[in-house]
Amino acid sequence: MSVPLSRRGALATGSGIVAAPLLAGCGNEPDVTVEAPQVATGSQLASTADIPVGGCAVFPDSKTVVTQPSEGKFRAFSAACTHEGCQVSSSSDGEIPCQCHGSAFSLEDGSVLKGPATEPLPEVEITVEDDKIMAV
Ligand code: FES
Repeated sequence: MSVPLSRRGALATGSGIVAAPLLAGCGNEPDVTVEAPQVATGSQLASTADIPVGGCAVFPDSKTVVTQPSEGKFRAFSAACTHEGCQVSSSSDGEIPCQCHGSAFSLEDGSVLKGPATEPLPEVEITVEDDKIMAV
């Protein structure tokens, strides 16, 4: 029988030499903090082919995450997690995950699916022209 190993359990089984560098990144402070979206009206955020159906892709330059909750339907949000500001991650797993403390947000409307975040991701208005996803 296989038992899933938690991060704490994994660290407990490691040697002190291995665990010490890992612990340096395990505080309560986010590893990556991002600012609010930096989008100019009319600028291209992404191409439709970049976004997985049922997933999302993060664009660090514009600090946005673009989602495709269902085929041909696109939404965009700030990529800054509303918990402590880490950058959310790209995913094809039906949600927008934040790796820092485990929050997850809806592909559809940026609402919180799983805490500790309590506030939704702010939406970025977009329009889709051909295969280009543009900021409005
Ligand atoms: S910054 Fe804490 S869950 Fe995202």
